[in-house]
Amino acid sequence: MAAKVRPLIAGNWKMNGLKSAALREAKKLATRMRKQSRPGCDVLLCPPSTLLAPLHMAIKGSRIALGGQDCHAAASGAHTGDISAEMLADAGCGYVIVGHSERRADHGESSGQVRAKALAAHRAGLRAIICVGETDGERKRGQTLTVVGKQLTDSLAKGCTARNTIVAYEPVWAIGTGLTPTVDDVAQVHAFIRARLRGRFQDQGLGMRLLYGGSVKASNAAELMAVENVNGALVGGASLTAGDFWPIVKTCI
Ligand code: PGA
Repeated sequence: MAAKVRPLIAGNWKMNGLKSAALREAKKLATRMRKQSRPGCDVLLCPPSTLLAPLHMAIKGSRIALGGQDCHAAASGAHTGDISAEMLADAGCGYVIVGHSERRADHGESSGQVRAKALAAHRAGLRAIICVGETDGERKRGQTLTVVGKQLTDSLAKGCTARNTIVAYEPVWAIGTGLTPTVDDVAQVHAFIRARLRGRFQDQGLGMRLLYGGSVKASNAAELMAVENVNGALVGGASLTAGDFWPIVKTCI
């Protein structure tokens, strides 16, 4: 039996956004959120690091949360170009995405490194959104559950709880392509992830939020969000403007 889990709709802006336009979109979203007296889901924006501080101001009092897109495992030190979980918390973040497939592919991040980053997030008091998902080739070879299962085992550390950990299932072939799995495929993978989490973390695993990500947009959000064990979405391209993102938020709010 699926537990009642509060949904999360998260926007991942990736390497997009310059200040004036980004602030305009964030403010529009904040205005809409402020009109919700009792929102039925959590809403999160993960902008590039340069926009964390201005967005933190722009969304104040709106209940929109702020998150980073990655963090280093260490709290500080000689790591040029990196940002720590503590720094993200200091900038007003409550969440951080770790192990996004673009980080795994572009920066060769292993699940072991992702696990260390998630632990760093927990150390800093952040919720870690841990991403998993198979490539097109893996899917075609029928390896989806094997790949996702291994990523889960290796990326989640002991001590993950329903509060500090969110898992995002993002089939790599669905990201930014306009392609999505069928709802039956999403249901199958999410049921598998839930069973794994329950087996390993018991009740905490039942309460962890499982997001679907990959070409979520206004036209498919409602059917994806209605799938059992889907507790929200991780949205890339369609989170960049309030006009595109708000209809997705509205499917849960
Ligand atoms: P997309 O990206 O919504 O643009 O497909 C999703 C993601 O990578 O988180």
